[in-house]
Order: sequence, then structure tokens, then C-alpha cells
Amino acid sequence: MKRMIDHSLLDNAKMNKKDEFYTQLIDIEKELTHYTHLLKDKIVYCNCDNPDFSNFWKYFYDNFEKLGLKALNATYYGNDAYYYRYDGVNIIKTKLVGNGDFRSRDCVKILQESDVVITNPPFSLFRDYIRQLSDFEKKFLIISNINAITYKEVFALIQANKVWLGINFGRGISGFIVPDDYELYGLETEVKKTGERIISPNNCMWLTNLDNEKRHESIELVKVYEGNEDEYPFYDNYFGINVNKTKDIPADFSGVMGVPVTFLHRFNPDQFEIIKFRKGDDNKDLRINGKPTYFRILIRNKTAHRSNIEKIVPQPSLF
Ligand SMILES: C[S@@+](CC[C@H](N)C(=O)[O-])C[C@H]1O[C@@H](n2cnc3c(N)ncnc32)[C@H](O)[C@@H]1O
Repeated sequence: MKRMIDHSLLDNAKMNKKDEFYTQLIDIEKELTHYTHLLKDKIVYCNCDNPDFSNFWKYFYDNFEKLGLKALNATYYGNDAYYYRYDGVNIIKTKLVGNGDFRSRDCVKILQESDVVITNPPFSLFRDYIRQLSDFEKKFLIISNINAITYKEVFALIQANKVWLGINFGRGISGFIVPDDYELYGLETEVKKTGERIISPNNCMWLTNLDNEKRHESIELVKVYEGNEDEYPFYDNYFGINVNKTKDIPADFSGVMGVPVTFLHRFNPDQFEIIKFRKGDDNKDLRINGKPTYFRILIRNKTAHRSNIEKIVPQPSLF
């Protein structure tokens, strides 16, 4: 079925830097199966979702009983915005006082009364969006651009183990439905038989504070540091080694290691601790032989034997 898109929303979208990327049902189903047991008796709020064409609303409405939800709330942004509430029997539709902005007074009130927020919010307002969830101490499961990891406020939450990555990541999210006036850019685009136009940016992830099984699975470490020191150079401006790929993390290294941002998709807080992001002791980007590295997250293996790091002679003076 081709979903009709309200033009007032499109106009808003233009002002909002192309935020109209609608999530496909298949991607919602694939992620949500990992959290169903956590939603029983909960009030779910989709606060960037017009029930006329949101697959989040569709998923929760169709699976209301199976999930054992207490209620489903949805609001959306637009000139003529409504609040929808489904209690398992009736849908009650109420006109909002404001324009459905997730920060507006009426939406905040609904947020306070809800238990879990689940949606794909506008990426252009992502900082505000996550700050609000954090301020109101809400449980959530949301889609975001992977870049959000590099935002100071998001990284701080990840480091503090208050927020983590969901199950599906990058290519694990198949693509988004875009309005007819969006250019189908990039290599991975498709127009479905239904007429739905899909863009697969492959640069998105789920971000959540709902527990999932993946964050309790340890990464199997098959490489070793001792005997392979040349593969793991020390940074110029931090006492730690550089590791280019998560799969190459050495099992026997108990000091600090810099790993790519994608490590977070495999992060188990019982196995590793996160020390710092991107910067060395001089507060400049991590460098090796004078050259900056890609973004790195500095981590320490909590389970490595404290063998080698004491043996390593500290690196030459940093400054
Ligand atoms: C990435 S789209 C996703 C839509 C829907 N949640 C989905 O997954 O299909 C983000 C939506 O947020 C809406 N939006 C933009 N600014 C907003 C705001 N201040 N408050 C609430 N929604 C907003 C956009 O119009 C857009 O429809």
C-alpha cells in the first residue's frame, strides 16, 4: 500500500532539513522482537509519528495484545496536529494545542505519562531529542544516525552505561521510505512495486536504554599482543595502543586501547570499560607518528590478565 503523505508535513520537512525518512515495518519488527518481554503493561509513546502512515504506530497497534501493552500514544508534528491514544479497545483522537513538536507542553505531558518512547525522531533535532529523554529519565528505543555516537552528550551517556546500541546497525537497517519529492541519491535506492521509494543510507543504528541480550555477549578475542607489538603502535599523545578493527583487539592486553566507533555495536560492559573518546592527554586528536587517527574510543579490557602492561616501558615523553 502506498502511504499518502500530508503536504503540510512535507513543507515542515523542508524547513527541517529533510527529516522525512519513514521507517519500514520490517526494520521495526526485526529490532522489536528483542524487547517484547520489556513492554508488558507499558505505555508506549511514538512522539514523531502520524498514525496515518507511521509503521511504529502500525506495529504497536497490530501487536497490542501480543505485547500486553497498557496503552499506545502517538503525536506528530504539523500545522494540524493530533494526539492519538489507543487503549486496546478505542482510539481517542484529541487536537493538540501546539504543533506536535516533541518539546511542546502538551507532548511533554504525554511523555511524562508514558513509560517507553519508541520511534525514529528527526535527526536534525537529535541532541534536543535525547536530552529530553534523558532529563525525563524515560526508557527508549530510537533510530539514529551512527554519527550521533560522536556527539558529546550521547557519548557521555554511552560511557556512563546509561545508553547503548540496539541489535541492528548499519546494513542491519534495510532503508527508509521517502516522500515523492526526495531525490533518490546514493547507490542503494529502490522503488518498490507498491510505489514506495526507499533510500538505504546504511549509516543508522538503534539507540536504547532497554536491556538486550547482545550487550551481555562477550567478543571472542583471538589475537594476542605479545609477539605482535608492531601491529599495535602506541599513540604519541596517550599511553595506549591503536587497534584498527574490533576483531583485532588483543586478548592479552590489559592497558588502554583505541578502537573504532563501530566497537560499540559489540560492547559488553562486563568485558570492557570505556575510558575516553577521541582525544589524547593534550586534548587533541589521538596521533601516531604525528598523524591523527580516525575517531577512536579508548577502552580497557576488564578481563585481560594484568600481565603485559606493567612490562611495557612507558612511551617517550608526550609533549
Ligand atoms: C525520520 S522521520 C521518522 C518518522 C516516523 N517516526 C517513522 O519512523 O516513520 C522524523 C519525523 O519527525 C518529524 N519532526 C520534525 N520535527 C519535529 C518536532 N519538532 N517534533 C516532532 N516531530 C518532528 C518529521 O516531520 C518526521 O516526520
